[in-house]
Amino acid sequence: MEKMYAYEPSAPSLTEVFSKYFKVGAAINSWNLEKDSREYAVLTKQFDVFTLENESKPEPTHPEPDRWVFDRVDRFAAFGEETGKTLRGHTLVWHGQCPMWFFFDENKQLVTEEVLISRMKDHIRTVVGRYKGKIAVWDVVNEVIRDEGGMRESLWYKIAGTNYIKEAFRTAREADPSARLIINDYNLESSDAKADTMAAFVREMIEDGVPVDGIGLQMHLNLFDTDMDKLRRNVRKFTALREIKPDLMLEVTELDMSCYLWADESTDVEWTDELHEQFSAKYTELFRFYVELAEEGVLDSVVFWGLDDGHSWLNGFPRRHKNYPLLIGRDFELKKAFFNVTGIVK
Ligand code: G3I
Repeated sequence: MEKMYAYEPSAPSLTEVFSKYFKVGAAINSWNLEKDSREYAVLTKQFDVFTLENESKPEPTHPEPDRWVFDRVDRFAAFGEETGKTLRGHTLVWHGQCPMWFFFDENKQLVTEEVLISRMKDHIRTVVGRYKGKIAVWDVVNEVIRDEGGMRESLWYKIAGTNYIKEAFRTAREADPSARLIINDYNLESSDAKADTMAAFVREMIEDGVPVDGIGLQMHLNLFDTDMDKLRRNVRKFTALREIKPDLMLEVTELDMSCYLWADESTDVEWTDELHEQFSAKYTELFRFYVELAEEGVLDSVVFWGLDDGHSWLNGFPRRHKNYPLLIGRDFELKKAFFNVTGIVK
């Protein structure tokens, strides 16, 4: 088969193919927004929702208590306004990429819950307020649950229990009443205990009147150990919450599928036709499930964590090796899996 590239006018577009089901998106970096670049052609053709991979996190935007850096996020917001694309804000509260000044006073002692929550509220009001009406969805809190179930014992939790989470949602709602507010996490499909904690905690928030609009399923999947039956079973724990909140939404926020097990020490896997077949079959099964969820009105969007295989974080984590986690390959070549996945829509 002749090669086809994601930027070519005659190539199929993910966002067009799935338009009657869900939005399709990608994590990008502000330097992908050069108008004459291939990246720009790919992202505007293939996707209609975007997340900044790193640049809107607290570490880059709020490195010191009185220092804010917004130029890159402003550029992202301007792109959204120019193109009418949907923008996701990632993320307001996280244990990672959060500057340590949030947690300590001038004597290097941990701050009180009151001080921490006041700093958090100031951060959320400033960021969400600045992009009110421009960034439509916020990952308000990120990765607050442990893989083994239970809440993650981060500094946020040690100082403020789960209050910080509830206050974060209330503050974000006040700052932009029309933004969709998401609780985002990974391994929700693969850890039963984590899925149970998430479902129970979201139930508690709904019952307490906390303004949570949806659950973000990161879905950093694995070609070899992602169990599709388990994935469906765990996702159903979240759709069941619609019994108490009929408009609760799910978003797939960081999709990719590594072809290395996490502990795999091999330097480079050989990307054979056979591996590609397996990869394609799993992605196709996954997208069939997404379509099923969308038909029930519960899935809003599916966002890939990167534009193409060449720029995925999985080439560098947990160690450096060549990975193939997305539907768009290196040089933006459309993979066979791309055609198989888009082929499910008749
Ligand atoms: O910006 C510095 C640069 O100045 C320095 O020279 C270089 C040296 O290592 O590091 C650069 O920072 C890196 C940053 O990405 C920007 O490229 C960090 O080391 C690196 O750790 C960081 O990784 C990001 C990671 O989040 C941090 O936890 C990945 O790009 C990003 O894809 C990843 O995204 C996360 C989501 O936010 C949450 N869910 C999981 C997902 C994947 O880990």
